[in-house]
Amino acid sequence: MPRIFPSLRLKRLRKLESIRALVRETKLSADNFIMPYFITDGKDKKEPIPSMPGVFRLSIDNLMKEIDQLYKSGIKAVLLFGVTGKKDEKGTGASKGNGVLQRAIRQTRSIFPYVSIFSDVCLCGYTRHGHCGIVKKSKIKNQKSKIQTKIQNFYIDNDETIKILSKIALSHAEAGVDFVAPSGMVDGQVLSIRKALDENSFGNVGILSYSAKYCSSFYGPFRDALDSSPGFGDRSSYQMDISNINEALREVEADIKEGADIVMVKPALSFLDVIRAVRDNFNIPIAAYNVSGEYSMVKAAAREGLCDERKTALEILVSMKRAGADMIITYFAKEAAKWIA
Ligand code: PBG
Repeated sequence: MPRIFPSLRLKRLRKLESIRALVRETKLSADNFIMPYFITDGKDKKEPIPSMPGVFRLSIDNLMKEIDQLYKSGIKAVLLFGVTGKKDEKGTGASKGNGVLQRAIRQTRSIFPYVSIFSDVCLCGYTRHGHCGIVKKSKIKNQKSKIQTKIQNFYIDNDETIKILSKIALSHAEAGVDFVAPSGMVDGQVLSIRKALDENSFGNVGILSYSAKYCSSFYGPFRDALDSSPGFGDRSSYQMDISNINEALREVEADIKEGADIVMVKPALSFLDVIRAVRDNFNIPIAAYNVSGEYSMVKAAAREGLCDERKTALEILVSMKRAGADMIITYFAKEAAKWIA
């Protein structure tokens, strides 16, 4: 009788769930989920987002009802996005003390003192052109190319943008946020926000930086939610090339040096190798963003009867954690917390 290699014996025994559970390496927990919410002006609003089944734009009163349920399901962290129809060239609405996001933060803070609040710090939802920074006209003239796209005549003014982002972050800190989350991939944004927070006695407010944010096709449904699709061009001048991994490590390193407390890899599903590489190279908490397209894809496939929604979503979420993420930002958070309870 050949000796059965112990791990093989374990494999045979694994048909018993109790044994599978004993040796399970990665477990999902509601503690590690962050639920994103889109907040809009008005009262008693719950506007469906057609490209994201089950996700809504909520007015603040309904957000409070939602967070109450969320907390009961075991999730204690939210990421808030402001949605506004009032847009201009410089995104001035984003840093207003009485803006919808600032008010949502203030209410959440006072009603749910134990919930950790993350806030999106970006311009794309507040600018008419939908870009994540201040757009300037390029002085370089290139009249040769007729197929030149409009974006080539424009550029993002990095320095002016980071000043505005710091103002936005400060307005969130004043409202009581725990972590600001700059999502625009603007160079130097973490350092500038960290400085602004420290100088204004918000040393306790943390920064979750969207460090490795790729120029991805998976953001489509989100842009519907925020009405933030770029009016011209795309985001390839500031978001990362999907083919690069070393660059992601450089971005993460820079953000850590600038003062990020948590770094993010986004999207997550097609960048699990990047999450793993960040995990292996840095000793810092990692957030994975299971983005809108990844969510809607599962919803659509499940609706067509092509997959089991619950099993598929949980498999995706566990893969992110197995890759090395500490926390997962996901629109599935509330459902997933119930599935794993
Ligand atoms: C914008 C921002 C985006 C997301 C979060 N913040 C989209 C973008 O860059 O166009 C995407 C989130 C998602 O798809 O769920 N700064």
